[in-house]
Amino acid sequence: MLVESVQLSDGRSYPVHIGSGAIADLARLIPPRARRAAIVTQAGVGVSVDPGIEHEVFVVEDGEGAKRLSVIEDLAGRLVRFGMTRNDVVVAVGGGVVTDLGGFLAATYHRGVDVVHVSTTLLGQIDAAIGGKCGVNLPEGKNLVGAFWQPVAVICDTDTLQTLPPREFSSGMGELAKYHFLGGGRLDELPIAERVAACVRIKADVVASDEREGGRRAILNYGHTLAHALETAGHYDLRHGEAVAIGLVYAAEVAHRLGRIDRGAVDEHRRVLGAYDLRSEMPPGFEHDEIISLFARDKKAIDGVTFVLDGPRGIESVKVADTDLLRDALVAVQAAP
Ligand SMILES: NC(=O)c1ccc[n+]([C@@H]2O[C@H](COP(=O)([O-])OP(=O)(O)OC[C@H]3O[C@@H](n4cnc5c(N)ncnc54)[C@H](O)[C@@H]3O)[C@@H](O)[C@H]2O)c1
Repeated sequence: MLVESVQLSDGRSYPVHIGSGAIADLARLIPPRARRAAIVTQAGVGVSVDPGIEHEVFVVEDGEGAKRLSVIEDLAGRLVRFGMTRNDVVVAVGGGVVTDLGGFLAATYHRGVDVVHVSTTLLGQIDAAIGGKCGVNLPEGKNLVGAFWQPVAVICDTDTLQTLPPREFSSGMGELAKYHFLGGGRLDELPIAERVAACVRIKADVVASDEREGGRRAILNYGHTLAHALETAGHYDLRHGEAVAIGLVYAAEVAHRLGRIDRGAVDEHRRVLGAYDLRSEMPPGFEHDEIISLFARDKKAIDGVTFVLDGPRGIESVKVADTDLLRDALVAVQAAP
């Protein structure tokens, strides 16, 4: 069993228990004042937990569609009827959809109750369950309503990954490849628990230095500007991590065109994605003009289109105004029809 810790700016911290069988630690990670636990999960997750106190299981629909304000309203009403007080605890059991939803429910119910995340996807364990960002989608876009609400503990039981469909595992590998470029090195060569722990350490270090994404935390969005545009355009069924993988190579192509990195570094991005068994070309069917206009709707685009790019000072946020350059880089990642 590996135990990592996420340190927060005001001296608070929370543990992350990682490894085979980690789920058995749940009861001792429940805050002692809690009398009831509301377990939020999806039928497709198929992981049962024992919080060691009175509990009820609240099942939400499968898929990204569960991240809606009306689901929060429905769950909050059910929590009231269950008798949940502000001392009680939400336990979110599932992938990023469930931890984002359960985290936001906990952030808002009675103006904030404790939440423990039991993360059951690779993407969730290395990314979504760590760092306190939570929220729901609007018809206008993803994650547009949310909060920063840190869990009191996170469990990443690697046994739960055994039932994960192969495409969900591959989606997690896309985020894993991102950590490769954020200093992780050859993470695919590590045993699974150490692989998760290495990513948790990198994310925890970034979150500790910038909990509310005022600056450095933006580097966690490496590869995400194109990824979000591809997911929003949605002409092709791409999982989040698959879109991030293409976005990493695109970011390298943009950085190269800005003179920030040489051609060898771009080739290295393609080589790494291949080694992680990931596709790095944009599938046919995407309109380049639509993608370019979606860049301006990205949450990072506060005053102009912002990319997270590699360069002489490492990976950092950079404004890019040259749409011809962005279009030319799209051609470079486009798969042949
Ligand atoms: N808060 C953050 O910092 C953050 C970071 C990255 C992504 N996210 C969010 O995470 C979400 C994506 O998360 P995800 O990739 O984990 O997808 P997901 O939560 O939709 O899970 C993928 C699928 O796997 C199923 N599943 C989950 N665990 C399983 C298991 N152990 N065995 C079998 N099936 C299982 C789920 O029911 C679902 O159908 C997005 O909504 C994204 O916005 C949040």
